[in-house]
Amino acid sequence: MVRRSVVAGCGAYLPDRVVTNEELVQRVDTTDEWIVQRTGIKTRHIAGDDQKTSDLAIAAARQALEHAGMNASELDLIVLATATPDHTFPSTATTVQAALGMTRGAAFDVQAVCSGFVYAMNVADNFVRLGQAENVLVIGAETFSRILDWEDRTTCVLFGDGAGAVVLLGQDASGDSSDRGVLANCLHSDGRHHDLLYVDGGPSATQTVGHLRMEGPEVFKHAVKNLSSVVGEALEIAGLHTDDVDWLVPHQANKRIISSTARKLRVSEEKIVMTVERHANTSAASIPLALNDAVRDGRINTGDVLVLEAMGGGFTWGASVVRW
Ligand code: ACO
Repeated sequence: MVRRSVVAGCGAYLPDRVVTNEELVQRVDTTDEWIVQRTGIKTRHIAGDDQKTSDLAIAAARQALEHAGMNASELDLIVLATATPDHTFPSTATTVQAALGMTRGAAFDVQAVCSGFVYAMNVADNFVRLGQAENVLVIGAETFSRILDWEDRTTCVLFGDGAGAVVLLGQDASGDSSDRGVLANCLHSDGRHHDLLYVDGGPSATQTVGHLRMEGPEVFKHAVKNLSSVVGEALEIAGLHTDDVDWLVPHQANKRIISSTARKLRVSEEKIVMTVERHANTSAASIPLALNDAVRDGRINTGDVLVLEAMGGGFTWGASVVRW
């Protein structure tokens, strides 16, 4: 017998304000055609001036708890992935904890930028496997609009705001690949590439928030190579093959990265959950937002094998294999 983290519910939140490519054309020297051709992005949601990352996270968390049929008082852990916290400290997770009315257990943030949700799932799953937590809320929430240089056409067209969440429950299982729940996780990082995708501010370095900076083509090259290899590793740990995968739920950075990775893995286009066209890159929120879409519209069903994969600044990258 082993302990597995079974997904009991999911939720998401997107700010009301939708910004089209045409609106960005008014701001920077770009075109709808360039953005769609290079990235697949058509729209993104942008948080209102009064909306913080925690507000987005709380809305997604409430929906996930409702979907799981659970009360926040039953939770014993919140792991929140974000690179755009409300404040330097306390963690955004503790703000969410207070808003949900959860007064026991623990809550903390995880920072792995776009890979944040996969990192948070791995951390949460380890807590469950060790018997340190039973009912866990895993959240990815971001307001990247606050760290974009809105004059820089090479980055400002790529990102959006949003939040997504899942509730994990500890359950006894047989320990083979037929179990429901998180079957395998695999994480990597390589800090040598920190200057290819970074924010040029921060409390210790500059005492400013700073703006996102990126060498896009370099990131692209690393992404396809790293993502396809880490998915292979995670599937091997789970004792599964690409043929067993029902749904690839990738980090939604760019349609071309997603399609090239899937082609390398020999996963067909119909098995990819793609939301980048509507949401753009929401960093740690993109995987749970995509998950929620495909669960709510009936594509993902109990027993399906899902592969979640992401790469982000650091570089960090990772994958999780989950039987829904
Ligand atoms: N509109 C019009 N032209 C633009 C824009 C824009 N918004 N942005 C850049 N250009 C121009 C460039 O200035 C360049 O012009 P030049 O040839 O006169 O110098 C030309 O378009 C080509 O630029 P490239 O950067 O070579 O274009 P590329 O095809 O590589 O596409 C992109 C750029 C979309 C950023 C791509 O490299 C990419 O997707 N990289 C991955 C980055 C990413 O997704 N990062 C997210 C975080 S990491 C992750 O999530 C995996």
